[in-house]
Amino acid sequence: MRRPFIAGNWKMNLNRSGAVALAAAIAERSKGLEGVDLAVFPPSIYLDAVRGAVAGSILAYGAQNIYHQSNGAFTGEISTAMLVDLGCRYVILGHSERRHILGETNEEVNKKVLAALAASLVPIVCVGESLSDREVGRTGQVIRKQVAGSLANLSAEQIAHVVIAYEPVWAIGTGKVATPQQAEEVHKDLRKILTDRYNTAIAEAIRIQYGGSVKASNAAELLAQPNVDGALVGGASLKADEFLGIVAGLNHK
Ligand code: 13P
Repeated sequence: MRRPFIAGNWKMNLNRSGAVALAAAIAERSKGLEGVDLAVFPPSIYLDAVRGAVAGSILAYGAQNIYHQSNGAFTGEISTAMLVDLGCRYVILGHSERRHILGETNEEVNKKVLAALAASLVPIVCVGESLSDREVGRTGQVIRKQVAGSLANLSAEQIAHVVIAYEPVWAIGTGKVATPQQAEEVHKDLRKILTDRYNTAIAEAIRIQYGGSVKASNAAELLAQPNVDGALVGGASLKADEFLGIVAGLNHK
């Protein structure tokens, strides 16, 4: 059984006190929850503050990006060692906003994935097609290429530590959520890709989150899909009620 994993990507939102208050509220209200992994991804500059706010709770935290080098003359960048130093367990890599707005390539994402794994951070690797890809029936092809490139050169042992997030670009921040059937179809396809590249046991063990306009009111039916193992939540993760409402959707799984 794959352990469900609900993650909140706060993107470039909140200020220090807002981040601390939100993390503290989620940490407090998730007390006693079992059988689920929960994590939040504040802007890196607030990670240390969030660390204090969630201490002793089940709420984990991580960063929204890293640079692949471990240290040196890379102005403005943040290394895996720095995240480990702050107690991070996870890092989001290859988010569509980084791919499309900041021009990150599959090759760069791959270097970051390898760096994260080398530092024992769990990478959440995002893949997803654009609206035009979907409209011309290229979804499968695009996903296959992103997986091949972003997750290149990973041993079976390494891939076992990776979480994949399927985030269709057209569903991110748009309010246009994928239907449970659309999500399940791609998640199933991802598992097939992993089976072909590794084997069934490995493919069955890897967690695949869905992301894109997930909120409390639509989470349960998405999470009920057999191959949807959790959610990577943007906007709705900025409110404790909504985020915990999404977590509550797991009760229907
Ligand atoms: P929204 O939930 O705001 O659509 O964002 C999804 C996302 O990009 C999570 O990484």
